Amino acid sequence: MGRKQMNWVVVGTGALGNLWSLGLAASGASVQIFSRHSADSPEVLLQNSGRTTAEKRLAVISEPQDAAPGAVWLVMVKAWQLDEVLELLESNFSGQLLQLVISHNGMGAGEPVLSRQSQWQVYDLVTTHGAWRRNRFHSVHAGIGQSWIGPRKGSGGEADRAKPLWLPEFENARPPLNWDTAIESRRWQKLAINCAINPLAALAGVANGELSKPGYSQTIAAICDEIARVEKRLDPDELMGQVYNVIEATAGNQCSMLQDLKAGQVTEIDYLNGFVCEQGKRLNVKTPMNCELTDKIKQKVKHIAGHQP
Ligand SMILES: NC(=O)c1ccc[n+]([C@@H]2O[C@H](COP(=O)([O-])OP(=O)(O)OC[C@H]3O[C@@H](n4cnc5c(N)ncnc54)[C@H](OP(=O)(O)O)[C@@H]3O)[C@@H](O)[C@H]2O)c1
Repeated sequence: MGRKQMNWVVVGTGALGNLWSLGLAASGASVQIFSRHSADSPEVLLQNSGRTTAEKRLAVISEPQDAAPGAVWLVMVKAWQLDEVLELLESNFSGQLLQLVISHNGMGAGEPVLSRQSQWQVYDLVTTHGAWRRNRFHSVHAGIGQSWIGPRKGSGGEADRAKPLWLPEFENARPPLNWDTAIESRRWQKLAINCAINPLAALAGVANGELSKPGYSQTIAAICDEIARVEKRLDPDELMGQVYNVIEATAGNQCSMLQDLKAGQVTEIDYLNGFVCEQGKRLNVKTPMNCELTDKIKQKVKHIAGHQP
């Protein structure tokens, strides 16, 4: 039996979105790019280089209603950009059946729309692939990673949801991909790793490997400990081990938060340590280190903005 080939709409031509658009197109899927830049229409030439290479012209739409019938939407945007994308989808597909794959760092983004549109079938994608944008249409695939996908709790009757028919096609696009029905736990683990590495490396202005120095270990332990008290399914020692594995594996890399600070861009802090801080307040669990790091990053952003011409 042939594989089910789907229509996909990928939001934007971001570092990761670009990789997946090209990967899906190479695996035979029909791909449209949803762009907020009217000049991109009717098609763009996407390229990626680095650890993998590809190039293809893909159709561009700028109105959600122009999506191919039954398309699966792949939304790989920064956490703080998600609400706007989902609000636009809600204004077009409210009450309808829509399949969405969402991937961003952090947690807590997009909740208002997703709780209103609980019939949408939402899948979360967690990935350790690494990419950066040479320009809006060219991604550099800096690190081959792996990915996990699973149904979002509370969306589209997830308890009964079997693997979607498009899973093999999606797996083919950027392997390896693992089906994970406990995707929420994996999102928490990724959150903890990002919370431990991003603000510390960003505040110190250093590559991730610097955090293996003993001076950081107490702070990293405190971050992991607080997160494991907020999300009780996590074990603080296991988290510490995972954090140090990532520090070692990405020793030469500058984390995304440091890159955002350097570029004077919004950071994802509200959805990382800020999210942990808010959950702590909600659950009456003390999370002073995560709250403090959130404040420090915000002060740093203000300080940088104050010095920009
Ligand atoms: N890059 C990595 O290596 C990596 C690895 C793991 C996780 N992540 C996480 O994955 C997420 C995406 O990262 P990224 O690096 O791919 O981000 P990115 O390069 O900034 O890409 C975001 C894309 O979303 C588009 N977009 C945002 N809002 C939109 C809207 N309202 N309508 C249409 N398009 C919109 C942007 O459009 P424009 O073209 O106008 O900018 C851009 O193309 C982040 O949460 C990041 O932390 C990234």
